[in-house]
Amino acid sequence: MYPRVIIDRAKYRHNVDKITSLCAEHGISVSVVTKVFCADQTLIDILNNCHVDYLADSRIVNLKNMQTHLQKMLLRIPSLHEVDTVVRVANISLNSELETIKALNEAAKKLNIKHKIILMMDVGDLREGVFFKADIEQMVESILLLSHIDLYGLGTNLTCYGGVIPDQESLGRLGDMIVKLKQNYQLEFDMISGGNSSHLYLLEAGQHPAFINNLRIGEAIVLGRETAYGKDMPDLYQDVFILECDLVEIKKKPSIPMGSIGMNAFGKTPQFEDYGLMDRGILAIGKQDVDYHELMPEDQDVRLIGSSSDHLIVDLTHIKQSYQVGDILRFRLTYGSVLSLMTSKYVRKVYV
Ligand SMILES: Cc1ncc(COP(=O)(O)O)c(C=O)c1O
Repeated sequence: MYPRVIIDRAKYRHNVDKITSLCAEHGISVSVVTKVFCADQTLIDILNNCHVDYLADSRIVNLKNMQTHLQKMLLRIPSLHEVDTVVRVANISLNSELETIKALNEAAKKLNIKHKIILMMDVGDLREGVFFKADIEQMVESILLLSHIDLYGLGTNLTCYGGVIPDQESLGRLGDMIVKLKQNYQLEFDMISGGNSSHLYLLEAGQHPAFINNLRIGEAIVLGRETAYGKDMPDLYQDVFILECDLVEIKKKPSIPMGSIGMNAFGKTPQFEDYGLMDRGILAIGKQDVDYHELMPEDQDVRLIGSSSDHLIVDLTHIKQSYQVGDILRFRLTYGSVLSLMTSKYVRKVYV
């Protein structure tokens, strides 16, 4: 049955081992991010047998369902409405709101446990985290009064919303803050969770700031590339995940529709360029599963020209090998396409 994602377990394990040993050489523990594959248990089982320190996910339901002996980290700032589940399911959560941390404290008190938090500082990317240093100090003072919260460390996240690269300047803001908190409150932090796959280039360039001792890594393991500059990492596999789709129609047709043009299925008025008669194919996959712009055909002579909910239309005019209905096309994937394909229940997952 197609479409299906082929997941190579040996390649995934190889990438995990390479990243965790690279980080270990620099004294960094790794929180492996599992959200891109919806915390699928087959891959969790691999992680359970690797030198991984934490499993990290943004969805509490993924953390709840995964079977693991490893510590679980909640990546997305918790909702005030889920604090009871968070303290039950996650060993550590990333936080930026005092009101939520107080609610976590109350929830942890009910269970008679201490919940570990990483206080997130926004050093410029403008997603989660406390931005102003004075606000962080005030928050730390309040957090230290909470009986069932363990201020386990500080963290930051970059190259997610604003595209800000981790460097001496951006990470320096986090470093300065740590020094200040140590001086003013005699704090010793267990974890400084300093970034994601965009941080890895600093290790290779010998510019990693020593105060950071944890990274939360998703994409580098899944796609074998760092995300500051989008470069493939040597010795890592870029094809752990591959999409296979089947051709359900192949026909010669014009390249522009005939008739007066109104709206397409998504309420937009489409525009077309005239390439004359084309060999057009239809693959049985659509917008409901994936954005076709995020697919890279292994046969580079195949051109992707458009999709609707369930159909992906391809231009086969310039192909060297001939295709027939029922033939399979294979695609390399991006982070976005792995994410949506793994989330789609209409796409089979096949482990090799
Ligand atoms: C807070 C946080 N940290 C780390 C990651 C992992 O990022 P990457 O996949 O670039 O390693 C994500 C995203 O998945 C995230 O939201």
